[in-house]
Amino acid sequence: MNKILFVDHTAVMGGAEISLLDLATAYSQTSKVMLFDDGPLQQRLETSGVEVATVKASETLLNLRTSGGLNSLSMIPELWNMAGAIAREAKDYDLVLANSQKAFITAALSALRGSPAICWHLRDILTAKHFSKVNRTVAIFMANRFASRVLVNSHATGKAFVAAGGKEELVRVVYNGFESERFDAVTMEDCQEARDRLGMGNAPLVGLFSRLSYWKGQHILLEAIRKLPQVHAILVGEALFGEQDYVSELKTLAELPELAGRVHWLGFRDDIPTLMKACDIVVHTSTEPEPFGRVIVEGQLAQRPVIASAAGGALELIEDGVNGYLFPPEDIISLRQLIDKLISDRTLAKSVAQQGYEDAKTNFAMETILKSFAQALVLD
Ligand code: UDP
Ligand code: GLC
Repeated sequence: MNKILFVDHTAVMGGAEISLLDLATAYSQTSKVMLFDDGPLQQRLETSGVEVATVKASETLLNLRTSGGLNSLSMIPELWNMAGAIAREAKDYDLVLANSQKAFITAALSALRGSPAICWHLRDILTAKHFSKVNRTVAIFMANRFASRVLVNSHATGKAFVAAGGKEELVRVVYNGFESERFDAVTMEDCQEARDRLGMGNAPLVGLFSRLSYWKGQHILLEAIRKLPQVHAILVGEALFGEQDYVSELKTLAELPELAGRVHWLGFRDDIPTLMKACDIVVHTSTEPEPFGRVIVEGQLAQRPVIASAAGGALELIEDGVNGYLFPPEDIISLRQLIDKLISDRTLAKSVAQQGYEDAKTNFAMETILKSFAQALVLD
């Protein structure tokens, strides 16, 4: 088993960090995680028996936006120091695996300071929308020059890397893995209790389980149910990366008379399987191509029909009408029609949900994914 030094700049529980928690837990006997910040991930890793080293970066580095331009170059001196810290930690490991872009740039620099092989677990689609030209140019240059491997969370993520100039031979697809037991363990009583707490009787319930952020498209769901007066929605998640303006806009939208009382804000939760099973439908509404989309597979494992935005990794997870449904990104009318159809045709909803469950269990079982992860890290 490889001795891996995992590195991430954030300790906030986004999907990339939840996946890191799973991988680092599987490698806890031989590996360690280095974080650039304190946060819930640190505690979660330690509880799972993973050794953690936190080397705090400055707020300026942590808050630097990937969409920013040349000003990021002013961070080079700090990145160089952080690279030294990685190189010191990495002495006893076979390879460094960077879980975020900031971690990768720093890890790549650490190659110049004596680190072993550097690999990047790329979990973002490198498009102009989220990443400035400078940012993409630097990341691709560093990957081509210093990375021994670029693990990508979907073919869509891999294609975008290559389209941006990344070397194809570095790329290996490693999907996220899931333990279905957490979903199978939820009882009818758990679901009923969760619904009772919402105080919405037997109304149809649609759930969206993403951090509150414009590109995750919570507004698309609210617009879609605006004209479905019987439907309630739960928004599960919070703004993890400072998007308070969007949250205020969403709250204003939810207070419109047509929606008032039907939108339930649950904040960040750890009982996702129960909450998904309390729903009639799980939706994914990203306005931009989703690199992978953990919530889509989780909705399938919860045996609920999933409606996802048809772009990016979602196209690799859902076969439209077979194991879930797809709608064109931002197409409120199509989403509304699909919600309406699944609420009125329970037999159809059930059969699609069942197929989704079987496919998710087969394709994304943790054990299978851990094998593909280990294989991707066999360096020639
Ligand atoms: N999630 C969670 N609690 C919440 C909202 C979301 O644990 O309140 C989890 C969700 O179950 C999923 C992850 O956060 O595993 C989000 O991952 P995804 O790949 O869907 O999106 P990301 O945020 O990484 O872009
Ligand atoms: C990133 C992506 C998300 C993916 C997750 C896990 O956070 O935004 O789509 O599911 O990484 O790889």
